[in-house]
Amino acid sequence: MHYFGYKRGELYCEGVPVKKIVEEVGTPVYIYSAKTIKRHFKVFQESFSDVEHLICYSVKANSNIAIISLLKNLGSGADVVSSGELKRVLKAGIEPKKIVFSGVGKTSEEMEMALLADILMFNVESVEELEVLGEVAKKFGKPAPFALRVNPDVDPKTHPYISTGLKKNKFGISEEMVINCYKKAKKNPYLKPIGLDAHIGSQITSLSPFVDSLNRLKKIWKELTSMGLELQYLDFGGGLGIVYENEEPPLPHEYAEAIIQEGKDLRATLILEPGRVIVGNAGILVTKVLYIKENKEKKFVIVDAGMNDLIRPAFYQAYHKIIPIEEKEDESEVVDVVGPICEASDFLAKERKLPKVKRGELLAIMGAGAYGFVMSSNYNSRPRAAEVLVDEEEFYIIRKRETIEDLFALESIPSKYL
Ligand code: LLP
Repeated sequence: MHYFGYKRGELYCEGVPVKKIVEEVGTPVYIYSAKTIKRHFKVFQESFSDVEHLICYSVKANSNIAIISLLKNLGSGADVVSSGELKRVLKAGIEPKKIVFSGVGKTSEEMEMALLADILMFNVESVEELEVLGEVAKKFGKPAPFALRVNPDVDPKTHPYISTGLKKNKFGISEEMVINCYKKAKKNPYLKPIGLDAHIGSQITSLSPFVDSLNRLKKIWKELTSMGLELQYLDFGGGLGIVYENEEPPLPHEYAEAIIQEGKDLRATLILEPGRVIVGNAGILVTKVLYIKENKEKKFVIVDAGMNDLIRPAFYQAYHKIIPIEEKEDESEVVDVVGPICEASDFLAKERKLPKVKRGELLAIMGAGAYGFVMSSNYNSRPRAAEVLVDEEEFYIIRKRETIEDLFALESIPSKYL
């Protein structure tokens, strides 16, 4: 469910015509709907209203500080994976006690920053990381609250690049080692075990991997409590999938019911780290058709957004629906929608049925709110797109388009080359 739709033959985001935004901001441009984000967050939150819980929006999905701020106003916390994300969420006003810090490669400087900021907990992903966390905590005389991220060896049945809970993945600590890690930590006064954590992957479209993972966690949780550990938080990560094409992911309330049902005897405070399900369908990328080009085999629609703007199709062969800004009913044709980047993988859609479009027309790439702008790059020295947030009848530029000068502002030429 989202608030992008045609009115009188023209695509609107809430009460604003997309064309009006493009006239002011240009293309390519990411456009987000505040109402959609609010709705997704509320539906997700209400699904868990029967149990103690904290929603820590996974900032990596879309880390614009306006979006984080909007979610903060709805009561969200944040899941961060770098000091960059930590600074963003603090800037956006998220309470430190609602922040969890995940990620396999935290540096000691990042741990220090988070410890001093007084975050809720560190989700630790290796034995060595736990040792370093203990050292950092000792240095500041401040015990570090943590959970260990378990790798439950569960197949999330999603794209291999976004599976994280299998033994062959770099994430988390294996079940066999986890108990010993907690035992070791118990002896260190600077390490404070307060939770248990897992995240098995992203764009998961069935309940069974979640239930399997929860069952593994339950077993470990019970073992830990019988050892005398007083854990409070069960962090279940994110991963709930959305509809891009014709997927049928569980609804948030189905997902919540399954987790609550399986996990109720633990009496834990649940932490959830949704990303995609909150922002994915709340954003579009609008691009302009530059050229149409045809050969014997194929027709190409060349647009001004490339894999540097939205890498998901090139990277994961991801499907994003594409629709024209002016509603069309004419016959469809099969085309490849490609960008201007000098790479064969620079496509937004392949063999796609689209209404006939011509040079200068605008297209919307749907479902681009999560892992869109955040994964964009400056490849081919292309300035990154602008970001706009629509809230009912108003729109706000929440990130200006980069300029070409921005691209080399940090570079310098050694004087002997001048
Ligand atoms: N928690 C942790 C520890 C994570 O690693 C992730 C995502 C999330 C939460 C949020 O997962 P979500 O609810 O959004 O599925 N770039 C890929 C997705 C990578 C996901 C990485 N981790 C894509 O475009 O599909």
